[in-house]
Amino acid sequence: MSGRLLDPYCGSGSSFASGLDCGMKEMYGFDINPLAVLISKVKFTKTSTGDLLKTRKIFRNDLYDFLKNENDIKTLLRPKVTNIDFWFSQEVIKNITVIKYFIDKIDNENIRNFFLIPFSETVRECSYTRNNEFKLFKMKEQDLLNFNPDVIGVYFKKFDDVFFLYSNFYFPKLQNNIKINIQHSTFQPQDGYFDVVLTSPPYGDSRTTMAYGQFSTFSNEWLGINYARKIDGMLMGGTKLKWNISSGIIADYISQISKIDCNRALDVSAFYNDLGKSITQVAKSIKQGGKSVYIVGNRTVKNVQLPTDQFVAEKFEENGFKHLITYKRALSNKSMPSRNSPTNKTGKTANTMLLEYIVVCEKKIKL
Ligand SMILES: C[S@@+](CC[C@H](N)C(=O)[O-])C[C@H]1O[C@@H](n2cnc3c(N)ncnc32)[C@H](O)[C@@H]1O
Repeated sequence: MSGRLLDPYCGSGSSFASGLDCGMKEMYGFDINPLAVLISKVKFTKTSTGDLLKTRKIFRNDLYDFLKNENDIKTLLRPKVTNIDFWFSQEVIKNITVIKYFIDKIDNENIRNFFLIPFSETVRECSYTRNNEFKLFKMKEQDLLNFNPDVIGVYFKKFDDVFFLYSNFYFPKLQNNIKINIQHSTFQPQDGYFDVVLTSPPYGDSRTTMAYGQFSTFSNEWLGINYARKIDGMLMGGTKLKWNISSGIIADYISQISKIDCNRALDVSAFYNDLGKSITQVAKSIKQGGKSVYIVGNRTVKNVQLPTDQFVAEKFEENGFKHLITYKRALSNKSMPSRNSPTNKTGKTANTMLLEYIVVCEKKIKL
């Protein structure tokens, strides 16, 4: 496969990994979450593995030297992280601050970015948040007392894991003729520029489902992003609507939700309204004969299963595409909402296998 691939919600970049496997050479991604952009940039930027290891050695020595002197540590500025004492012990704050201080001293931007990935993982692991939860919850009182992580040890363990994955999986695929451009912004349309869009758009209203902003808030704040706490509101569906969507496939489902909870119906409307507008922009940016591949989950709100796959197909059809096929695929990720509707009737739900839908459309050629 050749040509230009677009992912308007690239997150940590799984579409680029698929693109590389298919032999694509030119890929473009957008995301508004700085941590997601950082992760995908690091994965898909060619950085000398030898230089990374050399820097790790110097960095480690400098770090340990510095930690020997309590007075040096006191000279470092306290980071601007909301409720820092609620989420981190003093010892953890001290160690994370020192690690960040030495990362900031790395001159080479690609290497510095690489060092920030294990850093962001360390921040989360060493905070008092409960693991394996999408939203931020603090550990129980009795668990706090026993929680005394070896921050520096955690950091280097994470570094080595990230390095292993990068050097064995991503680096070998990054040939010199491959161009992967990832921007920290919302999607910027370009008429007829891309051959294919491959994406998994946000799942739903950010306040109630997977809160990407919250999920990465700590790391973003430690990374120095001063609007970290506002990211949730900037995500798709993050700004409320005052009206409900009243036409198209989704209207009946929203009206069902509205009878149970009008506020949730407005949230859901906001999400589909944003998704619809975004599809219009994306559709314009695809060449005639080009393909769109959207991977979505049909989540359930107030017991009503929302046919996002059909919504996506409908919107692309409204924008000059033909719906070719929708594949269903079993999901292994147990953390997703686990209800779905085998009958596909509004309101009928059952606990069953988790599915994701791959919606494939093609832009019609104008004669
Ligand atoms: C389902 S995730 C994509 C996951 C991705 N395929 C990956 O490999 O990580 C959706 C992404 O959309 C981003 N997002 C949400 N609203 C956005 C918007 N308005 N503009 C750009 N990106 C947005 C989120 O930050 C999130 O990273």
